[in-house]
Amino acid sequence: MLQAKRILLIIGGGIAAYKSLDLIRRLQDEGAQVRCILTKAGAQFVTPLAVSSLSQDKCYTDLFSLTDEAEMGHIRLSREADLVLVAPATADLMAKMAHGLANDLATTALLATDKPVMVVPAMNVEMWAHRATQRNMALLQADGIAVVGPESGVMACGEVGAGRMSDVADIIAAVKTHFSGPLGRPLSGLHAVVTAGPTHEPIDPVRYIANRSSGKQGYAIAGALAALGARVTLVSGPTHLPTPKDVDRVDVEQAVDMLSAVEKALPADIAVCVAAVADWHVAGENGQKIKKEASGAPPSIRFAENPDILATLSQHPTRRPALVVGFAAETEHVLDHATRKRQRKGCDWIIANDVSHQTGIMGGDENLVTLISADGAEQWAKADKHAVARQLATRIADWFDHRRKDS
Ligand code: CTP
Repeated sequence: MLQAKRILLIIGGGIAAYKSLDLIRRLQDEGAQVRCILTKAGAQFVTPLAVSSLSQDKCYTDLFSLTDEAEMGHIRLSREADLVLVAPATADLMAKMAHGLANDLATTALLATDKPVMVVPAMNVEMWAHRATQRNMALLQADGIAVVGPESGVMACGEVGAGRMSDVADIIAAVKTHFSGPLGRPLSGLHAVVTAGPTHEPIDPVRYIANRSSGKQGYAIAGALAALGARVTLVSGPTHLPTPKDVDRVDVEQAVDMLSAVEKALPADIAVCVAAVADWHVAGENGQKIKKEASGAPPSIRFAENPDILATLSQHPTRRPALVVGFAAETEHVLDHATRKRQRKGCDWIIANDVSHQTGIMGGDENLVTLISADGAEQWAKADKHAVARQLATRIADWFDHRRKDS
């Protein structure tokens, strides 16, 4: 399965590094060629000699080695691979990757590579749970880096919880999935349109009506769908977010523009409407800035209804995407409102979430959602928005898989 695949294995400094020795062997058993970089901290746990004996190659450790640079510079090292695998990925290594630091051979190769990167985190429970690590994880995932694990269990330090490096068999499975074409990229050949962010509805040339949507959940979904191989068009209202890897982004301001951009992107197999589209825009043109009245009377603003993008797509007479997914941001009676919203708009699934102020979901990093389909409601565990996105993308892939098998 991994015949002739070139894997650059970066071994970080953690007790789990001993498993990486076995990992080298198992990757070779599958036919892969493994070349290794051992960090300084990694060398505290396994020796360069063991690594080079097993990989049957030089063990690369030094950024400023004259002999290494003459034979195989760090740039070539990072490019002559089909996959860069970081196992164990320590909190420190992940933090450096997330922020683009490059002060040793491993981090320099990671910054210089143009190849897919997969990390296998391994660290203490609290270090893994720390907000800084979770923030770094989110950044890495937004950059399109694949993550394997970590697992929960008893750690070398005696604590119990999430942080243990995945078993070698699971790492091998993830690497195989990565290389297995359609299986690893189950949405390849499908086009997904995702709406995200708020819309800005102008009052006059300097003022507008907006909402608190950050766009984080929609961007994460666009990235997760692309990671599974879909061609993704992200139609985005104004946000401060970077475009996820391999995603085509179209920027819009108002709801009407968002609808035009979505219709222009059709045909699509999948539509996921995550945008917090304003329900109304200001009626009539205010070509000039509205001035205060001498009388002190406030201006009266008239609203007109915006088009409903989700309903338009769901009820499209000729180009309805095969699977249309909407979000229902509610502040009370969440399931009730969301269930009715699914029927009213005519979409296949609704992802319901409680955005009342105390949940901190609007603009925050975590989400607690319930998937509502014709089969009923299913609550998902509270997770960060990237994890929710991955779960949704996987569910979408399963849906298409069943559909293919049924037809
Ligand atoms: N939506 C849309 N176009 C609109 C309004 C909403 O595409 N003009 C989509 C959102 O992207 C989301 C879903 O519809 O997927 C539900 O959005 P929400 O704001 O919760 O619902 P509304 O239709 O605005 O209903 P209400 O404000 O009455 O709760």
